Amino acid sequence: MSSDIQTKFDFIKANTSKINEVDFENLTFGNVFTDYMLVCDFKNGAWEKPVIKPYEPFTLDPSAKVFHYGQAIFEGMKAYKDENDDVWMFRPYENFSRFNKSAVRLCMPEVPEYVFIDGLKELINLEKSWVKKGKGNSLYIRPFMIAIGSGVIAQPSTQYRFCVILSPAKSYYSGDVKVLIADYYSRAANGGIGAAKAAGNYSGQFYPTKLANEQGFQQVIWTDDATHTKLEEAGTMNVFFRINDTLYTAPTSDRILDGVTRKSLIDLAKREGIAVEVRSVLVDELVEAAKNGSLKEIFGAGTAAVVSPISGFQYKDEYIELPKIENSFSAHLKEKMTNIQYKIEEDTFGWTVKV
Ligand code: COI
Repeated sequence: MSSDIQTKFDFIKANTSKINEVDFENLTFGNVFTDYMLVCDFKNGAWEKPVIKPYEPFTLDPSAKVFHYGQAIFEGMKAYKDENDDVWMFRPYENFSRFNKSAVRLCMPEVPEYVFIDGLKELINLEKSWVKKGKGNSLYIRPFMIAIGSGVIAQPSTQYRFCVILSPAKSYYSGDVKVLIADYYSRAANGGIGAAKAAGNYSGQFYPTKLANEQGFQQVIWTDDATHTKLEEAGTMNVFFRINDTLYTAPTSDRILDGVTRKSLIDLAKREGIAVEVRSVLVDELVEAAKNGSLKEIFGAGTAAVVSPISGFQYKDEYIELPKIENSFSAHLKEKMTNIQYKIEEDTFGWTVKV
């Protein structure tokens, strides 16, 4: 640790490392964590000194508000290793800014930049050996904040814990992704917390997604809660539709997460000369386009999911399989984005930040 950082962060050394027990070739998403984590508590109206310490369980009061009212937010980010063994984060300031927007919406304190950004750099630097080279390998970064103050009165907590854990990752989805278009359940509503990365947005999807899984679908594509006619997002990823040679994705709103991969793909598509329109696609329009052959591709975009092609969708009683396509936009954009992430191509956007 640099001396400057030592004044900002406390450090507790781990006695051992788990790294030699990990099978890096056969990782399932989000199950293995590195040796260290970053923890910073908010108490008495101020952030305490952050500490980088061995990964270990927390002890919390059973009445802590996170358990009762779900006052919890998180982020999903990744770091990548280049051929020179340098490690790079992808657009961390976007996640930092979104994290603090989520914090405001959930009535939680904003996290200072030195805790979030410098903390990530220090933590990842310490864990560089957990980041493997080569496309497909990454270090998934999970910053989160929970309400740790005790008492079951339904009011915001006065005490919080910000924490960052790291997990070596390969792909999130393996194989075909088939989706079910929601016609009853909703993920979010106007005026709600759909745009925040709030824990409850994810647990609220578990039940409808379980029902979809039982029918053979990996994900639900959510539609607007008021009419169920507009295609919105897939919960673990934003969605893009290619109709003829134009790419469409829904505008962000109260109900849709402002995805970092989503906005990166929009910028990349424009740079690559692909027509992109940010507007709602109607379910009827999608079904019609699938039937007349103008629907060429659907794909999801997210940090964990990267760019995940969707092979078919079910709407009400009908399943429509998309024809296989050569020279897909999804493959091209994925290639371009990952080339930037792994420093294979020049990052003309300035998206990558060295650890
Ligand atoms: C991410 O892509 O990082 C997400 O947060 C989605 C998550 C539910 C795995």
